[in-house]
Amino acid sequence: MKKPVSRYYFGGYAMKRLISLMPIGLMIALLAALPMSSVNADEVSSLRGSLALEEQQSPPPVAKLKLDLEKFERNFKTQPPLIPHKVAKYKINLKANRCLKCHDKANYKEEESPMVGKSHYVDDAGVEGDKLNMGRYFCTQCHVPQADTSPLVSNTFTGAQ
Ligand code: HEC
Ligand code: HEC
Repeated sequence: MKKPVSRYYFGGYAMKRLISLMPIGLMIALLAALPMSSVNADEVSSLRGSLALEEQQSPPPVAKLKLDLEKFERNFKTQPPLIPHKVAKYKINLKANRCLKCHDKANYKEEESPMVGKSHYVDDAGVEGDKLNMGRYFCTQCHVPQADTSPLVSNTFTGAQ
C-alpha cells in the first residue's frame, strides 16, 4: 500500500527545507550587504560617468590613426597585431573579403603583404590546411587599425618585452 500523503506531511517537509536553506539565504544577504558598507558608491563610476540614464553624453573624439609609420609592438604573444594601414574602404561581406586579396596564403607573396596568421588556417579538427577557418573570416572582429590613444583606465600593465 502507498504511504498516505497528507497535507501535514508536505508542510513538514517544506518547513524542514526552509529551515535548512535559511543559513544560505542569510549568508547571501550578508554578502550582498558587505560591499555597500565598505565602498563608497560615489567613488565608483563607469566610463559613462554619473550621467543620468536618459541623458546622452557627447561622443568621445575620434582617435587619430597612426598609419604607415612604425608598426606597434604586440603587448603579448597572442595579441592580434594592430593594422598599420587604412581599412575603411576594405569590404568584408559574404561575397568578398578585401583583406584576403592581399593577406591570403594563395596571394600574399605577389601582394608583398604579410600572410594571415598560420593559426587562421587551422580547421575545427585542429589540422592546418589551405582554407581559411571561417571563424577568422571577419578580420576586423579582432584586428583594428593602430591609433595613438591613452588608456581609458589608468593601469600598471606592461607588455611582454
Ligand atoms: C592592398 C593590400 C592590403 C589589403 C587590402 C589589406 N592589407 Fe593588411 N597589410 C598589407 C601590407 C603590405 C602590410 C604590411 C605593412 C607593414 O609591415 O608596414 C599589412 C599589414 C597588416 C597587419 C599587420 C601584420 C603584423 O604582423 O603586424 C594586419 C593585422 C593587417 N594588415 C590586417 C588587414 C586587414 C584586417 C585588412 C582588411 C580590413 C587588410 N589588412 C587589408 C596589405 C594589405
Ligand atoms: C578571432 C580573432 C581573429 C580573426 C577573426 C582574425 N585574426 Fe588575424 N590574428 C589573430 C591573432 C590572435 C593573431 C596573433 C597570433 C596568431 O598568429 O595566431 C593574428 C595574427 C594575424 C597576422 C600576423 C601573422 C604573423 O604571422 O605575424 C595577420 C597578417 C593577420 N592575423 C591577418 C588577419 C586577416 C587578414 C584576417 C581576416 C581574414 C584575420 N587576421 C582574422 C586573431 C584573429
